[in-house]
Amino acid sequence: MIIALLLLFMVFHNASSSSALGTNVAARPDVVNIGAIITFDSMIGKIAKLAIAIAIEDVNSDPEILNGTKLTLKMQNTGSNDFLGIVDLALQFMENDTVAIIGPQFSATARMLSHIANDLKVPLLSFSATDPTLSPVQFPFLVRTTRSDLFQMTAVADLVAFYEWREVIAIYVDDDFGRNAIAALGDKLAEKRCRISYKVPLNPKATKDEITKALINVSSMEPRILIVHIYTNWGLRVFSEAQNLMMMGSGYVWIATDWLSTIFDTDPSLPLLATKDIQGVLTLRMYTPESELKTRFKSRWGNLTRVRGYNGSSFGLNTHGLYAYDSVWLLALAIDSFLARAGNVSFSNNPNVSDLLGGKVCIFNEGSQLVQSILEVNATGVTGPLKFNPDGDLINPAFEVINVIGTGTRTVGYWSNSSGLSLDSPEKPQRKQQSNGSSTSTQQLYSVIWPGQTTQKPRGWVFPDNGRKLRIGVPDRVNYPEFVRVKGTDVSGFCVEVFQAALNELPYGVPYKFVLFGDGKINTEPSELLHKIQTGELDGLVGDITITTSRTKMADFTQPYIESGLVVVAPIRKLNSSAWAFLRPFTPMMWGITCIFFLGVGAVVWILEHRTNEDFRGPPRKQFVTVVWLVL
Ligand SMILES: *[C@@H]1O[C@H](CO)[C@@H](O)[C@H](O)[C@H]1NC(C)=O
Ligand SMILES: *[C@@H]1O[C@H](CO)[C@@H](O)[C@H](O)[C@H]1NC(C)=O
Ligand SMILES: *[C@@H]1O[C@H](CO)[C@@H](O)[C@H](O)[C@H]1NC(C)=O
Ligand SMILES: *[C@@H]1O[C@H](CO)[C@@H](O)[C@H](O)[C@H]1NC(C)=O
Ligand SMILES: *[C@@H]1O[C@H](CO)[C@@H](O)[C@H](O)[C@H]1NC(C)=O
Ligand SMILES: *[C@@H]1O[C@H](CO)[C@@H](O)[C@H](O)[C@H]1NC(C)=O
Ligand SMILES: *[C@@H]1O[C@H](CO)[C@@H](O)[C@H](O)[C@H]1NC(C)=O
Ligand SMILES: *[C@@H]1O[C@H](CO)[C@@H](O)[C@H](O)[C@H]1NC(C)=O
Ligand SMILES: *[C@@H]1O[C@H](CO)[C@@H](O)[C@H](O)[C@H]1NC(C)=O
Ligand SMILES: *[C@@H]1O[C@H](CO)[C@@H](O)[C@H](O)[C@H]1NC(C)=O
Ligand SMILES: *[C@@H]1O[C@H](CO)[C@@H](O)[C@H](O)[C@H]1NC(C)=O
Repeated sequence: MIIALLLLFMVFHNASSSSALGTNVAARPDVVNIGAIITFDSMIGKIAKLAIAIAIEDVNSDPEILNGTKLTLKMQNTGSNDFLGIVDLALQFMENDTVAIIGPQFSATARMLSHIANDLKVPLLSFSATDPTLSPVQFPFLVRTTRSDLFQMTAVADLVAFYEWREVIAIYVDDDFGRNAIAALGDKLAEKRCRISYKVPLNPKATKDEITKALINVSSMEPRILIVHIYTNWGLRVFSEAQNLMMMGSGYVWIATDWLSTIFDTDPSLPLLATKDIQGVLTLRMYTPESELKTRFKSRWGNLTRVRGYNGSSFGLNTHGLYAYDSVWLLALAIDSFLARAGNVSFSNNPNVSDLLGGKVCIFNEGSQLVQSILEVNATGVTGPLKFNPDGDLINPAFEVINVIGTGTRTVGYWSNSSGLSLDSPEKPQRKQQSNGSSTSTQQLYSVIWPGQTTQKPRGWVFPDNGRKLRIGVPDRVNYPEFVRVKGTDVSGFCVEVFQAALNELPYGVPYKFVLFGDGKINTEPSELLHKIQTGELDGLVGDITITTSRTKMADFTQPYIESGLVVVAPIRKLNSSAWAFLRPFTPMMWGITCIFFLGVGAVVWILEHRTNEDFRGPPRKQFVTVVWLVL
C-alpha cells in the first residue's frame, strides 16, 4: 500500500546497471552511509541536528572504533512535509545504500517509517519517539534510543499516588504521541487505584482559541489535578491561557511531562517570559547520570552552538540532544561489531517492486544482523549505560521530578524504575535496599511549592465558594451533652469532633453547615430528624443516634464509632441473703427427689455388694457409712 503510493512521488534516478542485478557486496567498506531524518526547526530537532553532526565527527576521529571505516551522514529535514514527503525522504536514503537511519523525531512519523523499515530491513534509531506502543514485536527495525513514555507515565502515576490524589484530568495532543502515552497513564493509574476522570485531547497544531475553549471546559470541573502531555513548541501557551482563566492559582496541580523541562533546558529565556504562568508546576526530566563524559560534552556544547552559525546565540542542551548524540555512538559501536563479525554490507533489489521503482530502492540484506548488534551493545555514553533489556528498552529508566519556582527550577526528587520516588539520585538506591525498608515506605520527595505559592499539598478538589453546603442536622437535646453540646451557634461534643475528623481525612474539602433541631429542653425524637433526610430537608445528621433496624431503613448510618451500650433489661426479684442461699438453685421438691435417688442408688449398691464384699458386712452403722461414701 505504502509502496504503491510512493510510485506517484518517487524521483527516478538512473540505476547503475550493476546494482540493478542482485547484490552489491563490499567487505569491510571504507564508508558506511547513515541517514538522519529530523525536523530542523523544532526545539528538539535543532539540538539533535547539531548533536548528531558532532557525534559523527567524534566517531570518525576516534581511531579505536570502526577500524578505518568512516561514517557518512546525510541529514534530511522533514520540515512541514506530509506523509508522502517523509516517506520519500526515507526512500531516497535507501537508494544510496544507507545502513541505518537516525530518527524520525516524532512518534507518528516513527510509526509510519517503521513499516517501510520493516520492508527494507533498515534499522531506525529514534532518539525522541516516546510512544509506548511502538513495540519491537510489531516494528523489529525500530530501536528506541530514548525512554518510552511508559516509564514517564509510571512516574506520573507514582506521583499522583504519592500525593494521594485519586482522579486526574489529562490534557494531551490527539495523536500517537499523546493518545498512547495517556492510555499508558490510565493503565498505570489503575494499578494504583486512581483514574483519569476526564480526557482533553488537543489538536496537534492547536490554536489559541482551541486551547482556551478546552481549558474553559476544564475549569468548571473537578478534580483539579491536570496532567499535561503536549508538544514543546506551543506547550507554554496552554499555561498562559490557564493563567488568563485563573487556573494557575492555589488548589490546582499541574504536572507537565518532560516537554516543559525540555524548554527549560533548550531555551531558558522562553520560560523566563512565562515565569508567572508556570509557578508551582511539576515537570519531569529524563535522568542522565552525571559522568565525566557528560560534563565534557556539555562544556563543548556552548562553544559549538556559538561557532556553528546560530547567530551567536548559544542554546542549551536538552536530554533529547544527549540521546541523539548517543544514538550515533550506539550505531557506530553496533556497526563496528557487526562488521567484525564478518558481516558484509550488501543491498539487493526488492524483486516485488523493482520493476516499478526502476530498481532504485534496495533492501539491506544484513539489516536484521545490524539490529541484533545494536541491541547487544554494552557501553557507556553521555546518557549513561547504553544497553538494552530483552524488551528492547534502554536499561535503568529514571526521571527527575522538577518544581518550577520563581525564575528557576528545583529538583524535588527522582523516580526510577527500580526504586520509585526517592530523594536520592538513582545511582544510590542500594543504600535503601540494604537498609531493609519496604519499597513503599521509602517513597519520598522534598517539599514542593504548589501553584498559589503554598507548600500545603492541594487536595485536588475545590468547591466553589458559592456552592451549596451540606446541611448537617444536629439534635439540640437535654441529655448527654458530652456527645453533642450546643451553645448558641457553637456546636461541640464527641460526635461533632468525630464528624470533623472524618471530613479532614477526605482528599477534598466539603463545605457544610449545622442545622440545629430542638430547643435544648426537650429531646427531639431521632426518627423525626431521620425523616428529614428522607424528604431532602437535610443531607446528614450528627449526634448520638442509636442504630436500630427501623432507622436503618430511613438513612444510611456510619459504622458505630462508640459502644452503643444496648443491653437486655429484665425485672428481678429482690432476694434476702441468708445462710441457705446456696439451696436456691433448686426448689425443695427437687432437693427431695435428689435425696431419694441418692438413697435409692445406695440401697441398690448395698444389695448387690452385701453378699460378696467384706466391706458391706458388720454392724448396720458401718454398712450405712460405707454405702454413703460409695455413692458420694
Ligand atoms: C583493522 O584493520 C586492519 C586491516 O584492515 C587489521 O589488520 C587490524 O587487525 C584491524 N584491527 C582491529 C582492531 O580490528
Ligand atoms: C543519493 O546519491 C545520489 C548520487 O550520489 C545523490 O545525488 C543523492 O542526493 C543521494 N540521495 C540521498 C538521499 O542521499
Ligand atoms: C466541554 O465538555 C462537554 C461535556 O462535558 C463536551 O460535550 C464539549 O464538547 C466540551 N467542549 C470542548 C470545547 O471541549
Ligand atoms: C571554546 O572556544 C574557545 C575559543 O573559541 C577555546 O579557547 C576553548 O578551548 C573552547 N572550549 C571548549 C571546551 O572547546
Ligand atoms: C541568523 O540570522 C539571519 C538573519 O537574522 C537569519 O536569516 C538566519 O536564518 C539565522 N540563522 C540561524 C541559524 O538561525
Ligand atoms: C561477504 O562477502 C564476501 C565477498 O566479498 C563473500 O565471499 C562472503 O560470503 C560474504 N559473507 C557473507 C556473510 O555474506
Ligand atoms: C515479495 O513478495 C512475496 C509475496 O508477497 C514475499 O513472499 C516475498 O518475501 C517478497 N520479497 C521481498 C524481498 O520482500
Ligand atoms: C556490560 O559491560 C559491563 C562493564 O563494562 C560488564 O560488567 C557487564 O558484564 C557487561 N554485560 C554484558 C551482558 O556483557
Ligand atoms: C522496570 O522494572 C520492571 C519491574 O521491576 C522490570 O520488569 C523491567 O524490566 C524494568 N525495565 C527496565 C527498562 O529496566
Ligand atoms: C532485614 O533485616 C533483618 C534484621 O534487621 C535481617 O535479618 C534480614 O536478613 C534483612 N533482610 C534483607 C532482605 O536485607
Ligand atoms: C426480706 O427481709 C425483710 C426484712 O428483713 C422482709 O421484710 C422481707 O419480706 C423479706 N423478703 C423476702 C422475699 O423474704
